[in-house]
Amino acid sequence: MRRKWLTGLVFLLVLLVFFWIWRKEKTSRPVVSAMQNSILPPKEPLWAAPDSNTIPNNDSGHLIRYGKKLISSTARYFGPGGSLAHSSNGMNCQNCHLDAGTRAWAGNFGSVASLYPRFGDRRGNTETINQRITDCFERSMNGSAPDSNSLEMKAMNAYIRWVGKDVKKGKKPPGTGLEILAYIERAADPVKGKVLYSKKCQLCHGMNGDGKPDSVTGYLYPPLWGEHSYNTSAGLFRLSKFASFIKDNMPYGSSYINEQLTTEEAWDIAAYVNSQPRTIKKFKQDWPNILLKPVDLPDGPFADSFPSEQHKYGPYAPIVASRKVRK
Ligand code: HEC
Ligand code: HEC
Repeated sequence: MRRKWLTGLVFLLVLLVFFWIWRKEKTSRPVVSAMQNSILPPKEPLWAAPDSNTIPNNDSGHLIRYGKKLISSTARYFGPGGSLAHSSNGMNCQNCHLDAGTRAWAGNFGSVASLYPRFGDRRGNTETINQRITDCFERSMNGSAPDSNSLEMKAMNAYIRWVGKDVKKGKKPPGTGLEILAYIERAADPVKGKVLYSKKCQLCHGMNGDGKPDSVTGYLYPPLWGEHSYNTSAGLFRLSKFASFIKDNMPYGSSYINEQLTTEEAWDIAAYVNSQPRTIKKFKQDWPNILLKPVDLPDGPFADSFPSEQHKYGPYAPIVASRKVRK
């Protein structure tokens, strides 16, 4: 009788131990999976630029290397204290086209050679690489471009074509240019954006968005608004371009693999920055066909009846629905 009791007790104890181990397993599982999450392989690798050490050591190589210098140190040549001309706002092309236009989803030049000349909606006509470079000089750099026949234009053109030399004509591999960020359902909110800006951007770009100048290299931290920033006809003045750029690249040090902003945060910060003062510049020849205007372009006339405010901040979905195609 006593023996039976004892075996019963031992059996119960063994059961309890099993139960305890099983519980422990179960409760510890979420921790394990959270850890696994943090060591998941990075997102699929995207387009990568050719190695700059492979730029040939001949005349065409020298031209390419000069083009690279002009794009990474534009201010030295064309800034307010530039050695060739004083024809731009003091920014460098690579402030927006990171690593001289070679970094994935960071405004790189990967698919310029493959796609240009191409039809440009803004121009309403065919656009060449030189015309596209000129556009950035006049808008993003708020200045004027060197002549198309100048050595400098030839060099930038050669460099940009070298960056995209391995992409087949007509192709746009993932990772080239900017990633297109999804719209949010509500209007982007400059008030929320201001709070986020003070937490995540102000440290480098400054409370007044004027950045931090550096007498030699242009800017240590480039300006985001004010008289030295891009003007109102620049690509970044559209909320979609700004939000897309910062989602993958800002705060500085983040990347598409290691993003530090949510989609909503990116839109709200874009709304705040692009509601601050900057040089107003309009080009009469822009958007000759208003049907081709992107929905987030705030300047009328529009091909629909939505107010300018909604074109600027959204929500864009109703505008898109009214047009059936996203532009
Ligand atoms: C203030 C930011 C900014 C600066 C500075 C800037 N750009 Fe751009 N650039 C842009 C944006 C935004 C686009 C549009 C990208 C898109 O639509 O995917 C663009 C587009 C381009 C394109 C076409 C890319 C493509 O894939 O179609 C070229 C070429 C270019 N820029 C060259 C230059 C050069 C050269 C300079 C310097 C002289 C320069 N940019 C300075 C923001 C900038
Ligand atoms: C740690 C410093 C730092 C922080 C924080 C930071 N940036 Fe930047 N940002 C930079 C630098 C440096 C560049 C220029 C990159 C280059 O030249 O390679 C830059 C470039 C930019 C550009 C393109 C150039 C221009 O001036 O128009 C934009 C737009 C931008 N940052 C927006 C933001 C926003 C929005 C935030 C906050 C979410 C942010 N940045 C946070 C350092 C920073």
